[in-house]
Amino acid sequence: MRIAVIGSGYVGLVSAVCFSEIGHEVISVDNDSAKIAALERGEVPIHERFLPELLQRHLGGRLRFSSSIAQAVQESDAVFITVGTPQSETGEADLSFVEAVAYEIASAIHSPKLVIEKSTVPVSTCESLRKTLLLNGAPSGLFSVASNPEFLREGTAVTDFLYPDRIVVGADDQFSVALLQAIYQPLTSGDYYTQSHAIPHPGQFHGKAPLILTTAKSAELIKHASNAFLAMKISFINAVANISEAVGADIQQVCAGIGSDSRIGPKFLNAGIGYGGSCFPKDVRAFHAVAAQCGYDFGLLGEVTRINDEQRRRFVKRVRSALWTLRGKRLGVLGLAFKDGTDDIRESPAIGIIEALLKEGAHVRVYDPAAVPNAKKALSSDRLSYADDSYDAADACDALLILTEWKEFASLDLPRLKRLLKYPIVIDGRNLYEPSRMASAGIIYHSIGRATGVPDHLSEIVQPTEMELPVTARDFASGAASAS
Ligand code: UGA
Repeated sequence: MRIAVIGSGYVGLVSAVCFSEIGHEVISVDNDSAKIAALERGEVPIHERFLPELLQRHLGGRLRFSSSIAQAVQESDAVFITVGTPQSETGEADLSFVEAVAYEIASAIHSPKLVIEKSTVPVSTCESLRKTLLLNGAPSGLFSVASNPEFLREGTAVTDFLYPDRIVVGADDQFSVALLQAIYQPLTSGDYYTQSHAIPHPGQFHGKAPLILTTAKSAELIKHASNAFLAMKISFINAVANISEAVGADIQQVCAGIGSDSRIGPKFLNAGIGYGGSCFPKDVRAFHAVAAQCGYDFGLLGEVTRINDEQRRRFVKRVRSALWTLRGKRLGVLGLAFKDGTDDIRESPAIGIIEALLKEGAHVRVYDPAAVPNAKKALSSDRLSYADDSYDAADACDALLILTEWKEFASLDLPRLKRLLKYPIVIDGRNLYEPSRMASAGIIYHSIGRATGVPDHLSEIVQPTEMELPVTARDFASGAASAS
């Protein structure tokens, strides 16, 4: 199959490379000519596992790059739209990039095409896309539109594409259904997985990717509702963690108990400093706006966002109460990315928290294995410096904060850490350690939804109640850790 993928961001690039990997002829298009030139040289602009290998494997073979939408459309049977749908000022998805791309696609349709919306869009976008294509000259008998949302997570995007829990095809006519079924056939038949060069699955897989056929509108709703549900799960467990903290229970134990109910499941129940990234914050707001436009007040989604924002403020308050005052304090920080496995800092809770700490006069020395170049573009303060590794970040600091769940932050040499820190205080926003283990290493350990770990010899100076104060009205009003 000949495929054009319009937009070479996270979703577009991963999709283009993976479509080549499963045997299709692909043209990946972007209007950023510098990005296209770099990709043509084999340079990957994002930190994503397996992407460099697959780009090398297919570049110049089944995979080409171009800046011309017209050329890519003319040379393809299926055209995937994977451009950004950022948040507008009112919280709705801004579809102007999708619309702009649609104008160009329309004038290039001279033979049968399927135009597929893969970006995250509000329900009924396919309908608007079809009208826009028609209004801009696409002959009505020559094209169909369909929805095929992606469920890729940054950091594991390639394996998420190749080993999906499900492929959702939202199509309202037989031509679209048949074409999309053919595109995904190597995954739905299981043929891809038997090939010797196949990218290995990181866990268990059942041999064939399931494909769910729906209408276009249902597919569009599936995407928004999935992301909103996952975000709700995180906000829910963070709210429970706050109760757990107040009463002296342990959120990890609570999660083990909740998550072992097969109707709930253990995934996405990690309490922390809230969700970030380019998807959840934006998609929850956009879905809320979609509901409002349909005349439905989906207030639950407003609460999901509110709890998420509050979680960052609570963390800053936790740091403040552990250190008494922040002005002039030197803080080591581990993590900038919105989660592990990526260099992406968009809506990262770590960035919002660092900004709040700097605003309160602290000095911050930060380390992240991948996201420093991006952070340098976003953060600027003469009280901010970058460390070479975790121990360099901790050196001579008043406390060490953990803000991203990178695996390497979960296996630090604790005696070495204690020797380096000015005061043995770790404040972990990702619950990477057992409090008792930290306490045995002589470190005062604050985490989310659990009692503070306190070494025996320090029990007199750290009273548990000191740490478990709820956020006060003053903290809400000051908005200390405003959303990034
Ligand atoms: C998310 C969805 O998981 C994907 O299915 C979807 O395709 C994608 O959005 C998208 O719409 O493009 P992603 O944003 O890459 O993927 O990251 P997640 O792994 O979902 O994590 C999102 C945030 O939630 C991170 O900040 C992470 O640290 C946080 N999180 C996740 C928690 O705080 N607790 C958890 O238990 C899980």
